[in-house]
Amino acid sequence: MADVYTNPEKHVVLHNSVKMPILGLGTSHDGGYSHEAVVYALKICGYRHIDTAKRYGCETYIAEAVKASGVPREEIFLATKCWPTDYGTTATRDAFNGSCQRLASEYLDMYLLHWPDVPSRVKDKKQLLQDTWRTLEVLLDEERVRVIGISNFLEQHLEMIMEECSVIPHVNQCEFHPYNNPKKLRDYCTERNIQFEGYCPLANGQILNEPKIQEIAGIHGKSPAQVLIRWNLQKRVVCIPKSTKEHRVRENSEIFDFTLSQKDFETLDLLHCDLHVSWDPNCVT
Ligand SMILES: NC(=O)c1ccc[n+]([C@@H]2O[C@H](COP(=O)([O-])OP(=O)(O)OC[C@H]3O[C@@H](n4cnc5c(N)ncnc54)[C@H](OP(=O)(O)O)[C@@H]3O)[C@@H](O)[C@H]2O)c1
Repeated sequence: MADVYTNPEKHVVLHNSVKMPILGLGTSHDGGYSHEAVVYALKICGYRHIDTAKRYGCETYIAEAVKASGVPREEIFLATKCWPTDYGTTATRDAFNGSCQRLASEYLDMYLLHWPDVPSRVKDKKQLLQDTWRTLEVLLDEERVRVIGISNFLEQHLEMIMEECSVIPHVNQCEFHPYNNPKKLRDYCTERNIQFEGYCPLANGQILNEPKIQEIAGIHGKSPAQVLIRWNLQKRVVCIPKSTKEHRVRENSEIFDFTLSQKDFETLDLLHCDLHVSWDPNCVT
């Protein structure tokens, strides 16, 4: 994927003209972290986008993997997130600096507000979200970060930010797979030039045995995981599958050599059942 920034199929262009690789590697505390898999993704498979978060606890390890891969830092789109307990003007700047330090980078490619809720002690949620967003805008202005966005924000949360903002979020990262396909939210984002990014593209493995997906995979001579990633890409949704296994990291990157048909899309689009595989409404206390 050496052509990730030159081949228009392999990146999206955000509303500030930054090119974001459409395929990234997910990392998280769920299911463990593999140094070898991240090095392999960068060095052998050509991934140029890594998604992480302070909350995942692996930013330091990612810095080690980037170094070990030998891939120049400036070729990699490095994205991390701010957890709500770090929201607020000073706290968010401190959290940003902490992430940069752990990731051994003076700048970040993307910084996201991880979750729309705030700790229960906070009286004015809207004010805190707006102050926090303002901090991201300042970091953008200072060129400490190239792209700013949010994650898990629904329409009503986006409205709170946009009521006062001077920069419309570039990206909204939300759960996205055929069992959870929030069309209204995606349309809302598209109408406002906010790039939709999907997480849990394989529904954490829970969708891979779905007979309709297996049937489509058989038709194309591909795996169910590849069909799911391709479904994201053809919808121009940025996709960040995670694997700790080198052979799966490779498999998940071999998705630019086939095309799903209109009929495949019709089948996959009918599977929506509002299933959240990564959704804890009480995760912020
Ligand atoms: N913003 C948020 O709130 C949020 C929430 C959740 C996730 N995320 C991001 O999204 C990324 C992906 O989400 P996720 O890890 O929850 O789910 P996922 O990518 O849908 O699924 C990962 C699971 O599928 C397995 N897998 C990967 N490739 C496979 C393949 N080709 N065949 C069969 N199984 C395969 C992995 O196991 P092995 O490791 O054993 O291969 C792992 O158990 C995360 O790493 C994180 O960066 C963001």
